[in-house]
Amino acid sequence: MSNKHFICLGIESSCDETACAVVRDGKEVLANLVSSQTDLHSIYGGVVPEIACRAHEEVIIPMIDRALEQSGLALSDITAAAVTNTPGLIGALLVGISAAKAVSFVYNIPLIGINHIYSHLYAANLHFDAVEYPAIGFVISGGHTSLFYSTSPTEHKLIGATQDDAAGEAFDKAAKIMKLPYPGGPAIEKTALTGNPKAVRFPRSLLKNGSLDFSFSGIKTAVLYHCKGMNGALEGPDVYKESREDLAASFQEAVVDTLAAKLEMAVRRYNPKGIIIGGGVAANKRLREKINLLGSRLALKVYIPPIALCTDNAAVTAGLAYHYWRENKMADMSLDAVPLNMDVSLG
Ligand code: KG4
Ligand code: ZN
Repeated sequence: MSNKHFICLGIESSCDETACAVVRDGKEVLANLVSSQTDLHSIYGGVVPEIACRAHEEVIIPMIDRALEQSGLALSDITAAAVTNTPGLIGALLVGISAAKAVSFVYNIPLIGINHIYSHLYAANLHFDAVEYPAIGFVISGGHTSLFYSTSPTEHKLIGATQDDAAGEAFDKAAKIMKLPYPGGPAIEKTALTGNPKAVRFPRSLLKNGSLDFSFSGIKTAVLYHCKGMNGALEGPDVYKESREDLAASFQEAVVDTLAAKLEMAVRRYNPKGIIIGGGVAANKRLREKINLLGSRLALKVYIPPIALCTDNAAVTAGLAYHYWRENKMADMSLDAVPLNMDVSLG
C-alpha cells in the first residue's frame, strides 16, 4: 500500500459501543466494526458505566485485530491512530485512549484526539460525494441534542443544545415508563407504527422566544402522568387510558416536531447551504421524513447518512482525523479523557 495515503485506525469507546475502523484519506472505509453492549445494559434500562468500562477492556484488542484483518492491513501499514477523547464516560474513554496511545507509541505514528460530537457530523462526509458548507449540523443522540453552524468538517460553532435530557435519552426514558425495552428509540418507533400520533397532544417545548436550545424534561413528565397518574411513581401501577401504541406515536410526533421546529429556526437564522444530521436518533424514520420535507420546502441540501453511520462507530472517528492531520493538529501522550463537552450553548 502506498505510503502517500493516510491510513487511519479509528477507535471509539465513549459510551456503550466498542468500535474500530480503518479509513483511507478521510473517505474510503476499509473496515468498520462495532461491538455493542446493549444486551449487557438492557436489563438496567440504561448504560451502567462500570459495566461499560469492563466490556470495552475485554473486546478492545480483539476489535482492533478484527478491523485490521477486515482491511487486509497490518498495524505497520497504519499512518495514524485516532481516538474519541471527549465527551463520554471517563472510564470508557480511557480504554480507547490507552489502546490508541499504545499503537501510536509502539509504531511511532501520530495520535489524534477526536471530539465524538464532531465525528457524528462527519458521517455525512463519508457517505455523500461532497458536503457543501456552511451547513447547520445537528447531532441527535442518546447523549446530545446539539445544533451547530458548521463551516468545515473541523469547524463547528455550537448554536443550541439541550438544557436537560438529550432527545435519545427522552426516547429511552419514555420507553422505560411505557415498559418498552431499552434502547427506547427503536422500541418507540416500532410501537408507534400502529398508533395515532394525534391521540395525545404532548408538549413541544420551544423555550424562550428565539432560543435554539432544547428541553425534554417536560414531555418526560407528561408521559409519566399519562402512564402513572398525576402523583404516580415510576414503579407504581399503570393507569393510562390511551393505548401504548397511541402514546408512543404521540410522544414520537412531539419530539420530532420539536427537533424539526428548532432546525428550521436555525436554518432561517443562519441561511446555510445544507443540513447535516448525525447521531442515533437520526435512525428514526418519522424524523428523517420531516427533515427531508423541510429541506425540499426550503430548497436546502439534506445530508442524512445511512443508519450505520449515524449511530456510534469509529469510521467517522478515523475519517475526521484525516482533516486534523492535514491541519497538523495532532495530540501527544498527554491526551486525556474529557468526560463533559465544555462548549456552552449560545442560545
Ligand atoms: O448516537 P448513538 O448511537 O449513541 C450516543 O452517542 O448516544 O444514539 C443512541 C440513541 C439512543 O438513545 C436510542 O434510543 C436512540 O439513539 N435511537 C433512536 C432510534 N434508534 C436509536 N431514537 C429514535 N428512533 C430510533 N429509531
Ligand atoms: Zn454518539
